Amino acid sequence: MEELYFITGNKGKFKEAKDKLRCLNIELIQTKMEYPEIQASDLKEIALFGINFCSERLKSPFFLEDSGLFVEELNSFPGPYSRYVQDTIGNDGILKLLSGVKNRSAYFKSVVGLYKDGPHLFEGISRGTITNEIRGYEGFGYDPIFAPEENLKTFGEMTTTEKNAFSHRGKALEIMAKYLETGVE
Ligand code: IMP
Repeated sequence: MEELYFITGNKGKFKEAKDKLRCLNIELIQTKMEYPEIQASDLKEIALFGINFCSERLKSPFFLEDSGLFVEELNSFPGPYSRYVQDTIGNDGILKLLSGVKNRSAYFKSVVGLYKDGPHLFEGISRGTITNEIRGYEGFGYDPIFAPEENLKTFGEMTTTEKNAFSHRGKALEIMAKYLETGVE
């Protein structure tokens, strides 16, 4: 069975990838290799820098993933700064910033960067809304305050498999899985 490394320190992301890629005949291995996350407004640029950096250190096929939450009313904030904002003001802070705001549209974007005979990027977007309150205990990060447009539940109220069907990461991983199966981009 072929090995594929997922470079991430995020247990939630690894759980989702394991679930999404379970039909592929690969052994998915989590590795927490540190890589510089450059300051850039484009997730693709961040992911590409990461895969090029890691490809000099890891010789087996691997992927990493960069994602963010983009809130329309906040001019796409926090975007590439999503991790920092989650670690500082958190979900309560986002709800406070949107207190009394009618337009609650937001989207998550995920860029999966695969390194296998060279770099490949796969993108997934999940559109939805920021809820008025925290709902659910599943998942991680902004999951309890984001409901995808196809569903009334927040990601925080979904199982991993359910979230994968609607989520940015699920969509990007799906495209990567097709590429791994067929070799066609
Ligand atoms: P990074 O991709 O590890 O730089 O982090 C992006 C940050 O965005 C994470 O730390 C989370 O706070 C948030 N985030 C990314 N994807 C998700 C998701 O699927 N659910 C909830 N929060 C997410």
